[in-house]
Amino acid sequence: MSLNKNNIRAVYPGSFDPITNGHICIAQRAAKIFDEVIVAVLINAQKNPSFSVEERQKMAEEALADFHNVRVCAFSGLLVNFIRSLDSRIIIRGLRAMSDFEYEFQMALMNRQLAPDIETFFIVTEPQYSYLSSSAVKDIFKFNGDISGMVPECVINRILLEGNVK
Ligand code: PNS
Repeated sequence: MSLNKNNIRAVYPGSFDPITNGHICIAQRAAKIFDEVIVAVLINAQKNPSFSVEERQKMAEEALADFHNVRVCAFSGLLVNFIRSLDSRIIIRGLRAMSDFEYEFQMALMNRQLAPDIETFFIVTEPQYSYLSSSAVKDIFKFNGDISGMVPECVINRILLEGNVK
């Protein structure tokens, strides 16, 4: 992927299983600061995702289609290697609550150890999304709860199509 020499490309990685309105808000806010944002969907059988990587990627693409400088890719292996392959130096992560902090802090330090030239930037959630997670959405759906307002329409349609989520 080529980018103008002076442009800054940031990578927003995650499982996105599925993408939520909280994720979309973070991607959108990052896109206002950086020239290009790559939403990087982890291909990882170990995490046993509910949706295939193709489905997660498609949902993210549909959800972010209106943002001209946001693109969606899938990746496997080490995040820092993927970021280098994109000629980027920036990781974006969203922070919802103190409970996220320990995991995020550990991951940021681990990535820093692996690649000191790559920086992690945290974007603090909008309060309305602070309780929102992909797993909560799947749980609520399983028990026939209302998930509108939590995920974009394309995700609701996909979940309804599947009928059942892991
Ligand atoms: O949405 P998630 O599951 O919290 O995202 C986690 C993710 C994808 C950012 C993280 O698991 C990751 O970067 N995986 C790739 C493997 C890697 O680089 N591990 C070393 C850093 S801990």
